[in-house]
Amino acid sequence: MLVRLYPLVALTICWSIAQEPLPNCRYDDVATAHQSYQDWAITLLDTIYAVDPSYMPPDLVSVSEIGLTGDFRLRQVLLADLEALMAAAASAGHPLAIQSAFRSYDYQQRTFQYWVDRDGYEYALRSSARAGHSEHQLGTAIDFRSQDGPAPWDVSDWALTPAGGWMAEHAWQYGFVMSYPKDREQDTCYIYEPWHYRYVGKSTAKDIKQRETTLRAWLWTRQ
Ligand code: DAL
Ligand code: ZN
Repeated sequence: MLVRLYPLVALTICWSIAQEPLPNCRYDDVATAHQSYQDWAITLLDTIYAVDPSYMPPDLVSVSEIGLTGDFRLRQVLLADLEALMAAAASAGHPLAIQSAFRSYDYQQRTFQYWVDRDGYEYALRSSARAGHSEHQLGTAIDFRSQDGPAPWDVSDWALTPAGGWMAEHAWQYGFVMSYPKDREQDTCYIYEPWHYRYVGKSTAKDIKQRETTLRAWLWTRQ
């Protein structure tokens, strides 16, 4: 009897692990589980989980390799899809540019401090990741802007611009997801950032889009 029930028991245990709710937003410094550089697609970073200060992917390359301007580096693994995305956006009449890409631990420390100085500590916690917690340290996150536009955070809602709207609709087709969508701060623990996309690969991006979930919720069930 027990033997016959075993698959059902195992399935129930797996299901309940997968259904565990997202932890409430809080601030901590817990080492995230998947820190191997091969695990880039499932590394969970949020206000709780972080990578080590020394985390720096070995395959960072300049975006000039795909003809983009600016002193930015990203992981080799996403370059082909990024190149296709940039070409498609330009063909649609909405050329994009990169505002920010890989950021080391030290760089992120300075970035966070910039927002603290500008907006105060409490607000900075909601808009910027503390060092170790930023997806930019993975080398797979990009802040986009319109090619001839200002920094996207100086636009009232970048997703309402032609380029930002194009990204919101099509980025998933190239393997990118908007990490911090509108009205999902309870899930993501960050305010809406219509310019911040993380590369997770096409099948994951499609799955997240179809489920209408957030990247954090999707990753949480896979830790
Ligand atoms: N603005 C996002 C949360 C970051 O700093 O990575
Ligand atoms: Zn960003």
